[in-house]
Amino acid sequence: MALVKIPEDVIEQVRSQVNIVDVVSQYVQLSQSGKNLFGLCPFHEERTPSFSVNEDKQIFHCFSCGRGGNVFKFLMEIENISFPEAVRKVATMQNIQLDDKYLDAGNSEGNQQTSSQSQLIDLHEQAVSLYHHVLINTKLGQEALQYIKNRGLTDETIEKYKIGFAPTQRLLKPFFEERKIDSGLLGKSGLFSQDDQGNLYDRFVDRLMFPIRNESGQTIGFSGRQVHSNPDMPKYLNSPETEIFNKRKVLFNLDEARRQVRKNNPAILLEGFMDVISADQAGIHTGMASMGTSLTEQQVYDISRITNSVIICYDGDEPGQNAIKRAIETFAKSSKVQPKVVSIPDGLDPDEFIKQRGKDSFDELISHAEAPIDFELRFLKQQFNLKSQTDSTDYISAAIEVIAKQNSAVTRDLYLNQLAEEFKVDKTLLVDQLAPLVKRSTNVVSINDGHRGQQPQMVPHVQSQSQIKRNAVQIAEARLMNRMLNDHDIWLQIQGTEGFSFVDEEYQMLYLLAEGYFTKFDEFSVANFSNFVKENSLQSLLIEIDTLDLPENVGENEIQNYIDVIMKLAPIESQLKQKRAELREASTIGDVDRQRQLTIEIVRLEQQKQASQRV
Ligand code: GTP
Ligand code: MN
Repeated sequence: MALVKIPEDVIEQVRSQVNIVDVVSQYVQLSQSGKNLFGLCPFHEERTPSFSVNEDKQIFHCFSCGRGGNVFKFLMEIENISFPEAVRKVATMQNIQLDDKYLDAGNSEGNQQTSSQSQLIDLHEQAVSLYHHVLINTKLGQEALQYIKNRGLTDETIEKYKIGFAPTQRLLKPFFEERKIDSGLLGKSGLFSQDDQGNLYDRFVDRLMFPIRNESGQTIGFSGRQVHSNPDMPKYLNSPETEIFNKRKVLFNLDEARRQVRKNNPAILLEGFMDVISADQAGIHTGMASMGTSLTEQQVYDISRITNSVIICYDGDEPGQNAIKRAIETFAKSSKVQPKVVSIPDGLDPDEFIKQRGKDSFDELISHAEAPIDFELRFLKQQFNLKSQTDSTDYISAAIEVIAKQNSAVTRDLYLNQLAEEFKVDKTLLVDQLAPLVKRSTNVVSINDGHRGQQPQMVPHVQSQSQIKRNAVQIAEARLMNRMLNDHDIWLQIQGTEGFSFVDEEYQMLYLLAEGYFTKFDEFSVANFSNFVKENSLQSLLIEIDTLDLPENVGENEIQNYIDVIMKLAPIESQLKQKRAELREASTIGDVDRQRQLTIEIVRLEQQKQASQRV
């Protein structure tokens, strides 16, 4: 049965008939404090309540983990169900009759899937069965099966991951044609390549096929590994970007790992999916991997939603070590989760290590995972010749920069002691060198600073996992967004401001979604608007913006000030973004001259930015 999207007004009708407090109370013990209800957050461990429900606004928000949203969002998270399922659940609670055409039981993706998306998933599931059958039961698959077994995978593992084989004879196209599948759909599935005349060919040939599943366990793409090594072709070939497959979002095995993590095991982030499979077979079930690309902020966000205990376990070779460093930075930038780091000895990858030394040795490694700062210092050290005096001085300066990034003064002191001891230098000198650096990195203010005192006493002074990055522009963006959503005159003023756009992508995205919202609804309600915002990180951002503690009356020049800050900085900010991306590229390919030049340009732009923020 084709899935029909539930119309916005139906969703809103269902939502408006339930009280979020009644629903949440079934899972969380709430007690009144001020205008909100508080309780222990059901999504993570805590001793003091930071989870709140606002009955007026019909939303929940956790100050500690940053989750927030309306009643549907709450049910999706706690029951691990899709958006339509959550709508249906509430409808059932309230005895509201939903039209049968919205009740597609097969659809369990976190977001509401369009019918084209579910058709594409269906194609993938069929391809999984076909490729798997070829590998297991046919002569065509014999050699590939032997290869994968030689690599140590058991029948059980091959079954569990539904590993398959795409033979040289192209099978998939005739298979689908026989089933009268529309060629337009085949064309956008990513399973075929297309020539100039628009003819389709099986994309994957002579490859072992690894299905890639989304968070809900549905297959959304493949990665195909060469069986016969051919240096002219990539070792792994992935599905291209499609409506359902986005490399930057997908984490191999996230669906399984998520279940296992809830049993209190740390999540283990690996580099390759053979590592994930091999670890799983050895009894380590919480492995996940990105698709051969650097970890993205979205992926970090998705991991931090399921656990705050993560171990980065990349290959022991040099690229692996560089990737660890980048992953640590991505975590530091976008999440409160402090990952730990394991370096595999002797340049091995986890798959090889487990095979050579066994699960116990691997467990041993994991249990000795180190803090990011220890990794960074060790990593740094390798780049200097500490026998040379000048190199040692340079190392000490670089190490102090690493130490300065630590949030805790105690940690910083501990590491300064260590450094002083190690190089037999006077600690006060190091303290002097550290001081200006620390100041710079803690200089940012929270957008809620100064309003904390208004939060009920029960709320602990947690450092919240804020979605709102805290520089002057972002503070202006958040406050302006709050004002314009809640006051339609301000909304219209912004719409009429020529050349206005938000600097940060997330805010611009919310702005666009809000435009869609206001074409359907006249009144703003955050709980209703929340239905339009599907992405998790945006949801949390929206709730945080809405719960900002701003004075009730809009200040005289308040709005114009926000506009000025945002519009003046937009060009500098976008140049910075561009240069940083170029710098990342330059360091990936090791172009030192270009790195140096870009660094100088970035520093210059940063200075410009700071100068303009001062006024
Ligand atoms: P095996 O060689 O089969 O053991 O795989 P591996 O998992 O050890 O692969 P490796 O460490 O070389 O690479 C890690 C990850 O990078 C893989 O899991 C892939 O996702 C990705 N990758 C590796 N080679 C390629 C390639 O040629 N093309 C693409 N697109 N991705 C690759
Ligand atoms: Mn490998």
